[in-house]
Formats: sequence, C-alpha cells, structure tokens
Amino acid sequence: MITGAARVAGVCGQPIAHSLSPVLHNAWIAEAGIDAAYVPFAPPEGRFEAFVDGLRGGVVRGLNVTIPFKERALALADEASAVARRAGASNLLLFRPDGTIFADNTDGVGLLEALKAQANYEAKTGPVVLLGAGGAARGAAAALIEAGAPSVRIINRTLARAQEIAAEMGAGCSAHAWDDAPAALADAALVVNATSLGLGGRAGPDVDLDAAPASAVVMDMVFKPLRTEFLERAAASGRRTVDGLEMLVRQAVPSFEAFFGQVPPASVDVRALALKALDQ
Ligand code: ATR
Repeated sequence: MITGAARVAGVCGQPIAHSLSPVLHNAWIAEAGIDAAYVPFAPPEGRFEAFVDGLRGGVVRGLNVTIPFKERALALADEASAVARRAGASNLLLFRPDGTIFADNTDGVGLLEALKAQANYEAKTGPVVLLGAGGAARGAAAALIEAGAPSVRIINRTLARAQEIAAEMGAGCSAHAWDDAPAALADAALVVNATSLGLGGRAGPDVDLDAAPASAVVMDMVFKPLRTEFLERAAASGRRTVDGLEMLVRQAVPSFEAFFGQVPPASVDVRALALKALDQ
C-alpha cells in the first residue's frame, strides 16, 4: 500500500515505456513491504533540466537516469562521485534535503558484479577489448580501469570517439580501428560489446572471436534478446559469456539501497521477472 508518507523514487529517460527498472524496483518494494513507489518519468528532451531542478529538496528521493539524459544528469549535479566524473555520466541522482543534487554512477558496479556473478571474472585478470565508444563504453572503461584492469583497448567504427575516451582515461586505455581487432584480441581476457549492434536480434559486432584466447570471457551489454548473436557465437566456441540483463539487475541494487536505505530482498527473482517483461 502506498500512503501519504511513501518514499518515492523513479527513472527518467526518453522514451521510458520499455524500461525494466520499474519492474525490478517495485518487485523489491513489494517483497520488502516498504511504503514506497518507483515510477517512470519521460520529460520532453528540452525539459530535462527544468524537471530535475523541480525535484530539488527531496520531492522525490532520487532518480535513475537513462538514455539520452545521463551526461546532462552529471552536468546538473552539485557534487558527483569519482566514478561518475570519470564515466562522464550519471545514472543515479540523489536529492538532498538541503536542495543539492548528488550524482553517482552504478553502471560500472553493475558491469563488474555481473562479470563476477556469471563468469567469476575480476577486472585485474587481464587486458580488456571494449567494442564501442558511446556512453555505455565510456562508463565501462572507467569502471574497469578503476577496478584494476591492466589495459582497456577501445575499438570503434569512428576512431576519433575512441581516441577521445582513451585520452580522458589516461594510461592503460588505448584506441584502435576496427581493422586492428585481431591484434587487440590476441591476449584479451575479456571482450565487451558496448555498441548497439545485436539489438533486436540483428547481427552483433563483426569481430572474429577466435582471434581471442579460448579462455577469454565475452560480455554483451545488449540484452534484447538476452542471448545475442554475439553471445551465441562466443558460446559456440566454448567461451564463458556474461549477459547485459545481469548488468542491468546489478546496477539497480546500489540504486535501491540509496533510495530506500536497505538492501533489496534476495527472496524475489527479479531477473526472472525482467525476462518475463522482455517476453523471453
Ligand atoms: P550508448 O550511449 O548506448 O553507448 P551511443 O553513444 O549512440 O550509445 O553509441 C553507440 C555505439 O555503437 C557507438 O560506439 C557506435 O559507433 P560510432 O561511434 O562509430 O557511431 C556503435 N555503432 C552503432 N551502430 C553501429 C554500426 N552499424 N557499426 C559499427 N558500430 C556501430
């Protein structure tokens, strides 16, 4: 039951109708029996700042932020965590009673936790090849470097975007053209698809995974479908795989804690609920 004293949080994006975050958070809220609600918000693109500004002082506890607002969310905040600053984006805004906004980024934690959960993979294991140079890739590079990855090699169709991220991340991060993928993959311990290729069941990134060691872990941030063509290819060659849905679920955990002051109950299988919502 939602009373007048309910704690309210939400997720903000444009569009937002297909977001799985309300499914996850409201399942946890119901299971924990707390007086709270987690609601979707889709302000018009030009009204994002005005919308967020109106929440100052704690009108809502906090917001998760998704495409296309993550960079603007960071820019709006009065204070930001080191990982959000490094990622250049925020997926979690917290509204303090004094009217200030704190920006954090839990996507990186989500990525690292998913790697650990599904492949027992630690960032420090070895070199990483990251495909893509958009916001998702930037966040992944920041998290992997901060967690001790010895090197992160960013491969992108538009080389300049990869070079921009590499320059910002500093030592340990390099940019490569798509043609250089075989050399970059030769001693990779982890390969991550952070492009949008593979979405909707289309072909994934065109890289020859056999150029990577058989022990390399392959992860896809795309989770529609759950088993992307890229992951299927990796699994067919016997490689361990990590799916993007696990990352989505894991990034939601610290968000829930920040909004509602408790860890989400483990007794509800939110991954199964998300799969149902994805119709898989
Ligand atoms: P996000 O914020 O989700 O990362 P984005 O900033 O639009 O989204 O980035 C999309 C990524 O997918 C980019 O790396 C993009 O490559 P470019 O920087 O060259 O545009 C990559 N991408 C999308 N479509 C692609 C395609 N057909 N071939 C290769 N890369 C593609």
